[in-house]
Amino acid sequence: MEIAFTLMKRIQLFEFEDFNWFPTNIRSYMTNLIVQLQRKLGIGEVLANLIAEILKDKNISQIVDVGSGSGGVMPDVIKMIHEVHGLSGIKLLMTDLYPNPEMVKKYKTQNDESISYHDISVDATNIATAPTGLKTMVNSFHHMPPKEARNILVSAQENRQPLLIYEMGENNIPLLIWWLLLPISLIVVIIMVLFMTPSVKPLTWQQIVFTYLIPIIPVCFAWDGQASLPRMYTFKDLDVLLDGLGTSNYIWKKGRAKKSNGKKQGTYLMGVPV
Ligand SMILES: C[S@@+](CC[C@H](N)C(=O)[O-])C[C@H]1O[C@@H](n2cnc3c(N)ncnc32)[C@H](O)[C@@H]1O
Repeated sequence: MEIAFTLMKRIQLFEFEDFNWFPTNIRSYMTNLIVQLQRKLGIGEVLANLIAEILKDKNISQIVDVGSGSGGVMPDVIKMIHEVHGLSGIKLLMTDLYPNPEMVKKYKTQNDESISYHDISVDATNIATAPTGLKTMVNSFHHMPPKEARNILVSAQENRQPLLIYEMGENNIPLLIWWLLLPISLIVVIIMVLFMTPSVKPLTWQQIVFTYLIPIIPVCFAWDGQASLPRMYTFKDLDVLLDGLGTSNYIWKKGRAKKSNGKKQGTYLMGVPV
């Protein structure tokens, strides 16, 4: 079937962290910053609400997070799922195309058996081969070009695997405005990184050097963060990707995610077998 990908608002800009030559440690320092940003925005609570709904409904005991980076807020989410949503025994397996060596080591050596980080590269475009469980893609679906994105959705449906895609931002401003605002928004994010860095955990001397002395991290983080926005799939773009998908025994649902106080935060697409 011919899909009209060219009609999408989403555009395929580059992000530094997608290049395989990009240094693994710089990528990790950048994803460390995303963790802090998500904590400040309360993304953990939003995700825990969405994920708990699927786990309860489908009786699933493992979450397989794809494109985990430094883990994002998924370790916080699993805690909330255990403690706030009362779902004990749920396990979290984090994975990435470029696994974060620090996180792999951290979760290998700590006693908590409910959380682990796979040390072998897992490519989201090959999602059918990932371990079974609820697949989550948090802030990583926009990294998939349309053909790969479509294949992920097709694969989830064909293999009757539940899938939750979440993006904390939204591609909701006209592209021209995005370009016009780019110089100022890059500067704002660079300054934000300078203030956010002291709260990064674990804070290493390398993260400090590459932030304040040789500011590679703020510059690359600012570009990747800004480039992420026009790369995100809008609801209409998702309709294009979902063209012909959805059956009586596998349904797709999308919408704006909410915090417990009703405040909207990010967008989601979930696919679940019926
Ligand atoms: C913006 S980060 C998000 C990290 C984390 N999920 C979070 O919310 O903090 C995107 C992650 O997707 C990963 N990624 C990009 N392309 C991927 C692919 N094809 N398969 C798996 N992971 C991928 C990157 O390595 C990066 O760690």
